[in-house]
Amino acid sequence: MQTLIADHPLVAHKLTALRDSRTETPTFRRLTDELVTLLAYEATRHVRVKPVSVQTPVGMADGVKLARPNPLVVPVLRAGIGMLDGMARLLPRADVGFVGLARDEETLIAGVYAARLPSDLAERETFVLDPMLATGGTLVTVTSMLINRGAANVTAICLLAAPEGLARMAEAFPSDLPARVRVVTAAVDARLNDNGYIVPGLGDAGDRLFGVI
Ligand code: URA
Repeated sequence: MQTLIADHPLVAHKLTALRDSRTETPTFRRLTDELVTLLAYEATRHVRVKPVSVQTPVGMADGVKLARPNPLVVPVLRAGIGMLDGMARLLPRADVGFVGLARDEETLIAGVYAARLPSDLAERETFVLDPMLATGGTLVTVTSMLINRGAANVTAICLLAAPEGLARMAEAFPSDLPARVRVVTAAVDARLNDNGYIVPGLGDAGDRLFGVI
């Protein structure tokens, strides 16, 4: 498993505004959307392309277009939905799958309550959207679901990560696995608290995106 921390002043600026507890839901949503697009730029750095030639108004130009099959983007319900538009802006032809996991607030263990994924992901590049890599339980589960369906590589885009979650991912997906697993994030914070929240973090990403329901 590889980790990439996006080192860019715009990423840091938007993340700081997201962390601020005074940032209200409409602004939080817009900033998440913008931050995901910046992270997606890094996350898609190795996306497969094929060579093509196009006729410009003044001659032929060699270029590339995204290779088939289309990438698959998988937002993790519920908070990952707030990241979908920002990702789709860069990969508008990507197919979209969904996985829903809910965390038991006592055991902090996440269980799958919904999944809509293609059964065969051979040759597919897959991108998981989950804002907070906290204990790593959710991301290990979703990444395993994709690899078990044959995904060649899985890139998770997380607004924030905790060292505990990154360690759990690295243990579950050592770099000598055939499938390549990467985490792209805006920052790695200090630690988790006793409730499994990232410290200093930004709070409950789902609540801040969609309200407390
Ligand atoms: N999920 C969140 O929304 N926030 C955290 O800090 C950890 C998990």
